[in-house]
Amino acid sequence: MDNNAPTITCSFCKRKVVARTQYDVPIYDPRSGFSLCANCIRDIYHLIEDHQEDENIRQHEETEQAINEELARIKPHLVKDYLDQYIINQDHAKKVLSVAIYNHFKRMKYGFQHPEEDDDIDKSNVIILGPSGCGKTALLSHLAKMLDIPFAVTDASSLTEAGFVGADVEVAVRNLYYAADKDISRCEHGIIYLDEFDKIARKSGENNTITADPGHEGVQQALLKMLEGNVVEFTARGQRKHPEAPTIKVDTKNILFIVGGAFVGIEKIIAKRLQKNDANIGFGAKIEGQDDKPKFDELIHQTTPEDLMKYGIIPEIIGRLPIICTLENLDEDALLRILTEPKNAPVKQYQKLLKMDNVELEFQEEALRAVAKKAIERKTGARSLKGIIEDTMLDIMFDIPHSDAKRRVIITAECINDGAPPTVETI
Ligand SMILES: Nc1ncnc2c1ncn2[C@@H]1O[C@H](COP(=O)(O)OP(=O)(O)OP(=O)(O)O)[C@@H](O)[C@H]1O
Ligand SMILES: [Mg+2]
Repeated sequence: MDNNAPTITCSFCKRKVVARTQYDVPIYDPRSGFSLCANCIRDIYHLIEDHQEDENIRQHEETEQAINEELARIKPHLVKDYLDQYIINQDHAKKVLSVAIYNHFKRMKYGFQHPEEDDDIDKSNVIILGPSGCGKTALLSHLAKMLDIPFAVTDASSLTEAGFVGADVEVAVRNLYYAADKDISRCEHGIIYLDEFDKIARKSGENNTITADPGHEGVQQALLKMLEGNVVEFTARGQRKHPEAPTIKVDTKNILFIVGGAFVGIEKIIAKRLQKNDANIGFGAKIEGQDDKPKFDELIHQTTPEDLMKYGIIPEIIGRLPIICTLENLDEDALLRILTEPKNAPVKQYQKLLKMDNVELEFQEEALRAVAKKAIERKTGARSLKGIIEDTMLDIMFDIPHSDAKRRVIITAECINDGAPPTVETI
């Protein structure tokens, strides 16, 4: 027994403790005399540990509640209802996307409840195709606004293989990281939309072994790693890339990928395949007639992974995009509705603007039809609608503010077709 061991009074419990070793009174400051005995330290430690456990449970419950609330808010029919306010037609695409989003959240909930299981529910990455100006980008940007998880759109055509001039594929993840307000765990459950995905197809498409397009194939290979799920490393925005630059690491395992593009000309690949199939089963003669040529919309809905492969997307990528979502051409009636029905319809916007000048703006049905017809001639879907109206509206928007009188302005088909001035009535 060490008779020389000092006796120290614990500042907390006031017990006198013989300090045989430093562990009997682990905290002791001889200058101030402040001390904490081992018993007190143990008690405090348990107190903190219990509190931490409570805190972890609370956080877990909070996250689960947030996921449940979001799941209730984004049921497929509710997402479709929301999209219906902005996007005309394209019901099939709206359905496919709303189910994919809902499943993404369910997968997230499952992973949260069963952290020990790995990859139990497959990701439902989507590939969207459809003609130019039919609403692909618009659909996704409205979806992004409605969802409470980070969502970032990156133009695939701007991506290059590492080492080439342009943005590396990591940029897509970096965009998501910033969309998630730099919260890595939110980012790791977000959605990446790669627009203009057809632009990174191997140029030669079919039989491309000889004339392979190394640049684009390199980008696809790099994207494949991301789609498969790996840890992507990138530098912060504005930071130049050099070996010592600090990097941010994001695991893409749980990120949902949606890729989209016009895939111009894919209908020819589909038609060729269908013709071959029909010839094989004896209907070849029927298809060959020019009049029986299946329409674009019928063809595009029959897109298969093989068609995409022939278009120039590598099979490994296609394998990671199990859901094919197709959009249709917009006909005259659809364009007419796009002009007037969506919440942000061009006609509604002009009416709001002119109302501020005391003017009621009216488009005659024939005028709207004339706009739609012109847009169809331009073959750019709904994209040219705004431009066509803008041409007519410019003079009106210039002239109207000359007076403060209450007026009604009526746009007729002649205004659209021949540039005739609109009818202006004082009311
Ligand atoms: N179905 C639609 N309903 C409402 N607006 C639409 C629809 N399709 C297109 N638009 C409008 O037309 C414009 C162009 O559409 P968008 O950018 O979505 O075309 P896209 O399909 O992405 O074409 P691209 O393949 O050329 O990129 C947008 O301003 C969008 O609001
Ligand atoms: Mg687009």
